[in-house]
Amino acid sequence: MFVSTKSSSSESSIKNHNHQFKNFKDWVNFFQDQQISTAVKTEQAEHYLSDLIQQVDVVGTEWLDQPAYVEQYFLEQHHQTCALFQAYLERRKQQQGREYFPTVAHAFEFLAKVAPVKLVDGSWLYSSVQNWNRPENKDLIYIYLEELGMGHTRANHVTMYQELLNHYELNSYAEQLDVSYYEQAAVQLALAYAPPEYLPLVIGFNLGYEQLPLHLLITNYELAELAIDPHYFNVHITIDNAHNGHAHKSLQAYLDHYTLAEDPAQYLDLIKKGYVLNDIGKSSTEIITQLNPEQLALKVFQNKALIGQYIHNQKCQFSGKTINEWLSDPAQIADFLKVMLEKGWIVKDAAVEQSRFWKIIDDPDGKMFGVFNATEKQIIKDWIQGATLAARLSTRSKSQLNHQTESVLNHIDQQQIHQLKNRLNRCAAAEQKIDLLIPYVAPHMHHQEVGLWATRQLSQLLFPFQTQAMTYS
Ligand SMILES: [Fe+2]
Ligand SMILES: [Fe+2]
Repeated sequence: MFVSTKSSSSESSIKNHNHQFKNFKDWVNFFQDQQISTAVKTEQAEHYLSDLIQQVDVVGTEWLDQPAYVEQYFLEQHHQTCALFQAYLERRKQQQGREYFPTVAHAFEFLAKVAPVKLVDGSWLYSSVQNWNRPENKDLIYIYLEELGMGHTRANHVTMYQELLNHYELNSYAEQLDVSYYEQAAVQLALAYAPPEYLPLVIGFNLGYEQLPLHLLITNYELAELAIDPHYFNVHITIDNAHNGHAHKSLQAYLDHYTLAEDPAQYLDLIKKGYVLNDIGKSSTEIITQLNPEQLALKVFQNKALIGQYIHNQKCQFSGKTINEWLSDPAQIADFLKVMLEKGWIVKDAAVEQSRFWKIIDDPDGKMFGVFNATEKQIIKDWIQGATLAARLSTRSKSQLNHQTESVLNHIDQQQIHQLKNRLNRCAAAEQKIDLLIPYVAPHMHHQEVGLWATRQLSQLLFPFQTQAMTYS
């Protein structure tokens, strides 16, 4: 496994062609590339961040200039969020409808669209681990390791989200997203490789990210109501809490570093800039207001048409074209659906059983039974029935994820762990062990088996007290 921190020749070509990185997805892929060294990523992150902070506007963050009052400010914000959530609950008690996800399909679309950010959860703190021997970084590193579940598959936020996407078969939708959905993820990964002088950016970013937002409370509530496992979101309500959770630790880090800052004014300037980096890219609330299940349903049909265009009966025609002809061009699918509506094959805003098309795909004796998986059928069903007839996710897809056993290691995983174990055993001092492990807890690696194993070892070395109750293998 290549985790060297030295540049190779193939990397210098990447370095020299910085302009080739045209979009945010490319940037995410760059930072997540296992073959590119930490040194090269750090160099690029420095450019990325210095460009970015020249463009940000910090108006409205002046309260961060007075560290003594920041705790009070957050407390007030927290109470305000809780009051807004109470008002939301009150509306719901009065029989008003869901405000984020009218149907399961809306929720699925949301889960897919926030995936690029969720799959790098915690990454912005990685650079703090590089300077683990500075006591003032302790809180930041602790948050990072907790985002990584201290190396336990079921507790690692990234594997948790991967499990969610797998369980609801949303991966293909998450992979087809427009590059704009990667903007915030690219910022977080640039922070993961921030050079030491940009640590205040990380601290400021973290300060904003770890506060409890209203959208998280409502998302958690509505997912549970739709019988979609809200575990990932629920965890963020519990561990990001203001009392002793991430929100509290992030505040502590901001205050500790302020006391130590050589140039407090410059420190606070970067804190504010880091804080506003939270607002870059599409926010969860923006994604929620733009949900469009009609588009999602269209995507389901377009994806299926890629195969469907070859296998339909040539005799069956709709408006002068065979089904194969209709399906041969993705641009025609929307029109094809219109024809299906006109001909009465699909009856919108009525129970799906009234649609002939639904029977074909849902009835075990139907001609197209098994063509659409459970997730696709859910999206089609919600599109046909509309929000008024929306129901909870049916029991066919267990409401709870099977958070069962830790995964079984394959041969390559075992080998990698074995090799790392041997190298670790050869290190005499704890410092050496820690330095050896750090590259394995990088954003692209910590959720792989060897990364999870390394995270467990690193957590034990850095936080022996907090991890003593855990068992290690
Ligand atoms: Fe997280
Ligand atoms: Fe967190």
